[in-house]
Amino acid sequence: MAKVITIAQQKGGAGKTSLAAHLAAYWASNTNGIPKNGAIRDDPKHRSITLVDLDPQGSLSTWYQTREEKGVDLDAMSLRTGAGWKVNSEIQSAQKDSDLIIIDSPPHSETSTRIGIRHADIVVVPLQLSPMDIWATRSTMDLIKKERRPVLMVFNRVPARGKLAANLKDRLQGEDLPIARSTLGNRTAYASSLMTGKGVTETEPSSVAASEIRDLAQELLKRIQ
Ligand SMILES: Nc1ncnc2c1ncn2[C@@H]1O[C@H](COP(=O)(O)OP(=O)(O)OP(=O)(O)O)[C@@H](O)[C@H]1O
Ligand SMILES: [Mg+2]
Repeated sequence: MAKVITIAQQKGGAGKTSLAAHLAAYWASNTNGIPKNGAIRDDPKHRSITLVDLDPQGSLSTWYQTREEKGVDLDAMSLRTGAGWKVNSEIQSAQKDSDLIIIDSPPHSETSTRIGIRHADIVVVPLQLSPMDIWATRSTMDLIKKERRPVLMVFNRVPARGKLAANLKDRLQGEDLPIARSTLGNRTAYASSLMTGKGVTETEPSSVAASEIRDLAQELLKRIQ
């Protein structure tokens, strides 16, 4: 069975889709460390990564299609979409024909979000360091708790300096919440690489942004192995 990473956060614009795409792009060419789904290695349908886009906005699907048009690493990744209860069978099929599933969810709770969370080996919750984002995270955390899934909160768009952000970060880290050691800065490289259907580890491998994605990817793999 493939491992499942579900990215969820009911607050819009927290960075769910960006995170899904950058992690997928990194893992597409760095499969070391991804637990292998032994039974299906010889299956011609086998892909290392399956993306599951649950968001009707379809941003992750658009990124994937851009990648396909440019012919980037087509053998490494596939895409599934779905809504409502149909998501259940999509995820179950993906569990058979890939090693790692990355699920991007919409900025509101739907049946599909709940199913995506239910299948997760870990739920990743990106959040920005503002009071509004932190408050809005509560309903997502409640949903994950109800499904009894492991969770990891990831600070995104962390400003290089800023007293409010630093204070909030310290306070939350002191609250015994499941917060990732890795954080992502506020960097234009994240958006510009996605425009070309790639991830920042592919377009600017020696940038700080790329090393942030590699760190987070490794931290996540450690948690699901
Ligand atoms: N670390 C970052 N640095 C700079 N810009 C970022 C970063 N993360 C995300 N963004 C930008 O923030 C915006 C929202 O990101 P994204 O679409 O990934 O969020 P989302 O949670 O998927 O949104 P939605 O809830 O609408 O699905 C985008 O314009 C994206 O380029
Ligand atoms: Mg999104």
